[in-house]
Amino acid sequence: MERLDKMLTSLGYGSRKEVQTMIKNGHVSINGIVIRNVSQKVEHDEVMIDGEKLDPKSLIIVLNKPSGYVCSHDDAGRLIYSLLPLRWQYRNPKISTIGRLDSDTTGVILLTDDGKLNHELTSPKKHVRKLYEVMLASPLSGNEVELFASGELMLRGDEKPCMSAKLTILDPYHATVELYEGRYHQVKRMFAAVGNKVIKLHRKRFANIDVDELKEGEFRIISKEDILD
Ligand code: URA
Repeated sequence: MERLDKMLTSLGYGSRKEVQTMIKNGHVSINGIVIRNVSQKVEHDEVMIDGEKLDPKSLIIVLNKPSGYVCSHDDAGRLIYSLLPLRWQYRNPKISTIGRLDSDTTGVILLTDDGKLNHELTSPKKHVRKLYEVMLASPLSGNEVELFASGELMLRGDEKPCMSAKLTILDPYHATVELYEGRYHQVKRMFAAVGNKVIKLHRKRFANIDVDELKEGEFRIISKEDILD
């Protein structure tokens, strides 16, 4: 049970003042009965605003990230959060991305307000599988497959070699890479380490989640169970 005005504010429906006005004006009901008492203790699932159920208590979202959006709350520039409904941008706890993609990377990005889940999925110990598609500036030689798989590829500035990664060459300029870790700019740095340059990067899959059914900029709500086996 939680105070009605507090619940609505933390779900982003407005400031404490705004939701109190909304409640007093008769927009909020429980079992068809209008509630005007802003401090009434309520259960999330029973509350309706103008006949509609509340947004979920906790959110996990997959978004098909377009290029040109940053995975940050405070960078200048276009934030990935601006692609979500405005109300969701005012939730407390905040919705944050699960890991980050570079501004010019497209594809699967998960977001959640569940800090514990976020931590679990980004923990280096967890080894969540990520699949990327790359377009390269120079043709692949074929030798990269063995080196990426070797567990010995060192990236500049890192102390440990990369974990074994599966490189599948589609044609000399296109490949997929499957990783079980997520270092800073990892895919771009792996190709840089073999003298190549990534000119397009798309994440096709994060754990079990893809964006095959979503256009760029679109999102859908998913559940914890959808993410991992
Ligand atoms: N590796 C990169 O270099 N960039 C990304 O956005 C994701 C993985």
